[in-house]
Amino acid sequence: MLYYARKHVLITGGLGFIGSNLARALVAQDAQVTLVDSLIPQYGGNTFNINDIRDKVTVNVCDVRDRFAMKYLLQGKDYLFNLAGQTSHVDSMIDPQTDLDINATAQLAILEACRQTNPSIKIVFASTRQMYGKPIYLPVDEKHPIRPVDVNGINKLAGEGYHLLYNDVYGIRTCALRLTNTYGPGMRVKDARQTFLGVWVRLLLEGKPIQIFGDGLQLRDFNYVDDCVEAFLLAGASDAVNGKVFNLGSAEIVNLNILGEMMLSLGYGGVCELVPFPSERKAIDIGDYYSDFSLIAKELGWTPKVDLLSGLKKTMTYYKEHHEHYWSD
Ligand SMILES: NC(=O)c1ccc[n+]([C@@H]2O[C@H](COP(=O)([O-])OP(=O)(O)OC[C@H]3O[C@@H](n4cnc5c(N)ncnc54)[C@H](O)[C@@H]3O)[C@@H](O)[C@H]2O)c1
Repeated sequence: MLYYARKHVLITGGLGFIGSNLARALVAQDAQVTLVDSLIPQYGGNTFNINDIRDKVTVNVCDVRDRFAMKYLLQGKDYLFNLAGQTSHVDSMIDPQTDLDINATAQLAILEACRQTNPSIKIVFASTRQMYGKPIYLPVDEKHPIRPVDVNGINKLAGEGYHLLYNDVYGIRTCALRLTNTYGPGMRVKDARQTFLGVWVRLLLEGKPIQIFGDGLQLRDFNYVDDCVEAFLLAGASDAVNGKVFNLGSAEIVNLNILGEMMLSLGYGGVCELVPFPSERKAIDIGDYYSDFSLIAKELGWTPKVDLLSGLKKTMTYYKEHHEHYWSD
C-alpha cells in the first residue's frame, strides 16, 4: 500500500542516518519529501546519504533552532517525522546547553509552530531508550521507571514530553518511538559519536582492532535501519497510536563480545580487544539493556525482520564500497 503517495512529508534530521533511510522509503511510495538538516559537522548529517534520491527530494539546509524557518517549512505538511537531534551522550555532558537547545527547546518551538500554523499535521518523534537509564529489570518495557544517566536522556525526555503534551492538550497528533541501538548504511562511522558500532565498522575496514569497553559482557539489542524505518512508517499511518510511546527493540540479544565476534566473522579480518572504559563513558554507562517491544508488536504489528548477522553484513558491504564519503584517511 502506498499510504504516503503524494503526501507532503517533512523530515527533520533528513540528511542523517535514520532520516535519510526514511526519506528513501517515502520516495519509493511517491511522497513529496522535504528534508531539513543543519549539517553541523559533529553530527550525523551527510549529503551522500541521499545520493541516490537527490533529485527526488527537496533539501533545506537549516537549523531546527531557527523558529522562523521552521514555522515556514511546517506549513502545508501532512506529516512530520521529527528526527533532528544531538545524539552524542558524551557531548551532551561536555556541552549540555547545546543539547538542551536542540533536543528540548527547538522541539517545543516546532510544536508551537504546528499549533499556530498547521494543527492538523501528524508527527512521529524519534525518542530514545536512553531515558530509562540503568535498567532495574529486563526486558525494559514502557512502564519502566525513567532515570536518565546523562543530559541527553533528560533533554530527549523533555522533547518527547512536549510532543505528548501537544497531543493531549491541543489535539496535535503525535506519538514517540523510543529507539534502541540502530545500525546500517548511512550511520556515522567516522567516530563513536553516534554509536560505538559505527566506529567498529571503520576500525574493521582500516584493519585496526575493534575496541570493546570493559569486560564486553554488556547486553544489547540492535535494530537494522530498515526495521526502524518501517516502525516510523507504521506509526505515521496510524491514528490509534496518537499520544502513545513505544519501545523498538529486538529479540536477538547479544553481549558486545559476541557482537565483536559476529563482525569478525564477516570476512574482513580484524581482531577485538578489551580495553578499560574511558572514565567519561563509564560515568554514563547503562549496563545491560534490551527492550520489551510487545506493545508496538500488538498495536502496529511491528517486529524487526532483519537478523543481526545479515544486517551487519549489509552494513559492512555498504561501507566497503562507499567509505570515502564517510571518512578520509
Ligand atoms: N541511531 C540510534 O541508535 C538512535 C537511538 C536512539 C534514538 N535515536 C534518535 O533518532 C534520531 C535520528 O538519529 P540518527 O541515528 O539518524 O542520528 P544522526 O545524527 O545521523 O541524525 C540526526 C540528524 O539531525 C541533524 N541535526 C542535528 N542537530 C540539528 C539542528 N539543530 N537542526 C537541524 N538538523 C540537526 C544532524 O545533522 C543529523 O543529520 C535522533 O533524534 C536520535 O536521538 C537514534
